[in-house]
Amino acid sequence: MLRDLIYQLTGNYYPEERMKIFEYKIERVLKNLGLENSSPEKVVAYFSKEGRDTLIDLMTVPETRFFREGEQIEVLVGEVLKHVPSPSIASMGCSTGQEPYTVAMILKRWKRSGTVIGFDVSRGVLEKASSAVYPLEELRDIPEDYREFVKVKEKFIEIREDVRYMVKFKRANLIDPKDFEGMEGFFHAVLCRNVLIYFDAKSKEVALRNIHKLLRREGTLVLSSTEILGKEFHDLFEPFKVGRFFFYRRKDT
Ligand SMILES: C[S@@+](CC[C@H](N)C(=O)[O-])C[C@H]1O[C@@H](n2cnc3c(N)ncnc32)[C@H](O)[C@@H]1O
Repeated sequence: MLRDLIYQLTGNYYPEERMKIFEYKIERVLKNLGLENSSPEKVVAYFSKEGRDTLIDLMTVPETRFFREGEQIEVLVGEVLKHVPSPSIASMGCSTGQEPYTVAMILKRWKRSGTVIGFDVSRGVLEKASSAVYPLEELRDIPEDYREFVKVKEKFIEIREDVRYMVKFKRANLIDPKDFEGMEGFFHAVLCRNVLIYFDAKSKEVALRNIHKLLRREGTLVLSSTEILGKEFHDLFEPFKVGRFFFYRRKDT
């Protein structure tokens, strides 16, 4: 029942082979909430209402890091979007913010202006993202050439204000078109990296149709280099290659 609920709420599908992780996470949270002896119906009722955000925070996968496949973003900014003076870029499933801040740092280094919006369905990760503060260890993920964009304190690092001001965050659910009302055709590029790998075919299609609507004409969808968009989506997006990276251009439908 909880597996169905998280699927309905986020499109994230737990297949059999990930059920062990699922059970482990649920058991831990039930214990913390003192619900370990409650009936399944009571547990599901709790997570459908007041515990909804807790469930979403817990069952989505927040793994990310600064400059994850950074070269792909450099190619996006320096090649794909080189003729766009001030691009609007979305980081869909931005987790704790390292991806949108990486985009902003790359724009800054190329002396470009632009707007970056990080979207995520989990409120917990967005709170961390907005704080713009990260553990000191994460400095190692930031290449030397980019370290001027963070302030290094004794125990943490903080994103420099001018980079921070380029980035906004918003809670939005990729499978709910209502969350994106008023933003249709706004973005020159949408990054959606390492997010759709947790979706099944049906929720992936809903998400890709929403992204299609958010992009401008000929806007670019960016997946991680290990994700490939099947032919069934080639009516929405056309693949193209720059250097060793694949990107997807929005097609008119
Ligand atoms: C593995 S992280 C990827 C972070 C970043 N894009 C990267 O590649 O490093 C996946 C993120 O997608 C978010 N996510 C999952 N389902 C979502 C949905 N339906 N709508 C918006 N975000 C979602 C999760 O909360 C999580 O923060």
